Amino acid sequence: MNSLFCELLLKWDKKSNHRPMPWKGEKDPYKIWLSEIILQQTRVEQGWAYYEKFVKVYPTIQKLAAAKDNEVFKLWEGLGYYNRCRNLLFTARYIVKNLKGEFPTTHEVLLTLKGVGPYTAAAIASFAYNLPHAVVDGNVFRVFARYFGIHTPTDTKEGLALFNKIAFENLAKKKAGLYNQALMDFGATVCKPSSPLCSSCVMQNSCVAFKENLVGQLPIKSKTIQKKKRYFDYFVFIVGDTCFIQERPVGDIWAGLFHFYLVENEKIIPLNDPYFKEVLSNQLLIKVQNVKIDANKNSFHQQLTHQLLDVRFTKVYLNAIPQALSRGKWVKIKSLKKYAFPKTINDYLMQEGYLG
Ligand code: ADE
Repeated sequence: MNSLFCELLLKWDKKSNHRPMPWKGEKDPYKIWLSEIILQQTRVEQGWAYYEKFVKVYPTIQKLAAAKDNEVFKLWEGLGYYNRCRNLLFTARYIVKNLKGEFPTTHEVLLTLKGVGPYTAAAIASFAYNLPHAVVDGNVFRVFARYFGIHTPTDTKEGLALFNKIAFENLAKKKAGLYNQALMDFGATVCKPSSPLCSSCVMQNSCVAFKENLVGQLPIKSKTIQKKKRYFDYFVFIVGDTCFIQERPVGDIWAGLFHFYLVENEKIIPLNDPYFKEVLSNQLLIKVQNVKIDANKNSFHQQLTHQLLDVRFTKVYLNAIPQALSRGKWVKIKSLKKYAFPKTINDYLMQEGYLG
């Protein structure tokens, strides 16, 4: 038998959930997987157009597996968290090569795919095959913490186990796909993080947080992540109508994307500090007295899950290509738009008019 929570949720879904999304009701596991990877760390409004682009350009897993890396990165550009894109490609190629192009059909095997965690596996298993697996993420924590009045912090082992148990107990086992989508939609449109729509909510009479006036306090987290601050100084070396770009190495953020010559520091250093000239002369073996340097006064900021970036750009006009800058590409400034860059660099290029 379904719980009261489950009945209320399904009733709300049938009567009041008007949230059209291109992946809703989709049965093709490839397309469901694609949508779920895009929606990890991305809002529906933003992910929507990317999903449509990907489905159009790569309608099958075979098409995606055969694509060139840079092409896929370029299509992904702007979504951020590029590990998702790398895993997407890896998994598509893995399935085509090792699983005859057939998507796994159980939660257990889905979990073995790179980039697929318990949430995504539960989403694919329930949407594609209607298997009884419950999705559990930040939205689900919030809905359950409020509805059942749970004060256990969500970011603890105990909390995770408790929320998983509640999620499974309340799941509509025979309509898992419908239920999971309804729960996601309910968390996003009614039981929202701020300004939830309690006054018109169908759960009002049985919601503990509403009755006890705890909606603003729940869910509880034991700690907030301290983000590491990083200071990037990019030097845009220009010779004539070309500039120097490099591919980001693996093992750090933005691996596989392009960037400029980078000097990273532990703290912010004024751009007129002699340190920079020293770095340039030592690393590039150029006489910086003779070159024109044009520092962009703005700092660009980007927040990642665990890092806070402070990024500056300085153009350095050189007369000739220095020997030390051979490990990378000298490309026409006009063709920069063909390369996939991190968001911050694109923001800078846009500001400079280099992407037009
Ligand atoms: N977030 C993750 N998966 C989603 C889905 N299928 N619909 C809406 N939001 C989501």
